[in-house]
Amino acid sequence: MADRRLWVPTEVNVDAPSAARVYDYLLGGSYNFAADREFARKAISIHPGLPMVCRENRSFLRRAVRHCVANGITQFLDIGSGLPTSGNVHEVAPEARVVYVDNEPVAVAHSRMMLKDSDRAAIVHADLRDPDTILNAPETRRLLDFDQPVGLLIVAVLHFVLDTDLVKTVLARYREQLAPGSFLVLSHGTLEQQAPSAKAIQDLYNRSPNKVITRTKQECIELMDGFDLVEPGVVFTPLWRPESLAEKPERPEDAGWYGMAGRLL
Ligand SMILES: C[S@@+](CC[C@H](N)C(=O)[O-])C[C@H]1O[C@@H](n2cnc3c(N)ncnc32)[C@H](O)[C@@H]1O
Repeated sequence: MADRRLWVPTEVNVDAPSAARVYDYLLGGSYNFAADREFARKAISIHPGLPMVCRENRSFLRRAVRHCVANGITQFLDIGSGLPTSGNVHEVAPEARVVYVDNEPVAVAHSRMMLKDSDRAAIVHADLRDPDTILNAPETRRLLDFDQPVGLLIVAVLHFVLDTDLVKTVLARYREQLAPGSFLVLSHGTLEQQAPSAKAIQDLYNRSPNKVITRTKQECIELMDGFDLVEPGVVFTPLWRPESLAEKPERPEDAGWYGMAGRLL
């Protein structure tokens, strides 16, 4: 039996790795259990660059949030927000109102504790495949005004939803709720330009409860349907509007995941 702490909801099986807690470990966090750490260490032994992939994704998320704020966004819906870690959206955009959503109970419990005194941010326990539950949740109704532009963040999440038609249907449902000027921000795993070890990581996840699918750049462009892609389009995360030369690694493709944002006209 792995370590169990006070903040673990009783229904959680800490003996099986969860995508949220493995990601937390890969980012150097401490909201994870022995099974998560064992899985993550195995993944790192197969693909040593994996922690860097996650860090680059977080940097992309922060830049994308700042880009949205610079373009007038004052409210965010962050679906698949994960465990609290440095650079949460309400920290990057302290003036904004933020609704976080995740389907992982430990992520939800911890986010709820962290946000309990906030009147600008809240967490909803829901699955992204159920847009109506998310859109009608009391927290969403209280904090977000869908007559005004919203920054919809679904970052490093859609590779956990294997059914592409369903992903497109769900994205269309969110899109029809958004006011013009809203943003959709995605990042997504791909095998394009990747070493064979990236495929081995996908195989490892697919032998766990957290199945994943990778998608091509063209498939990612199709996910952005209805949104006007922000320059530079769909690129490896470090290439998405780096804010300094230091942020641009020599081999951006090693960051493994595509980042993209689009604006609803
Ligand atoms: C790799 S983490 C990404 C966290 C954060 N968005 C980021 O980019 O740093 C993926 C998160 O998506 C959540 N997730 C996966 N499938 C989901 C679903 N169907 N509905 C809601 N959340 C989901 C996982 O629980 C996990 O917290």
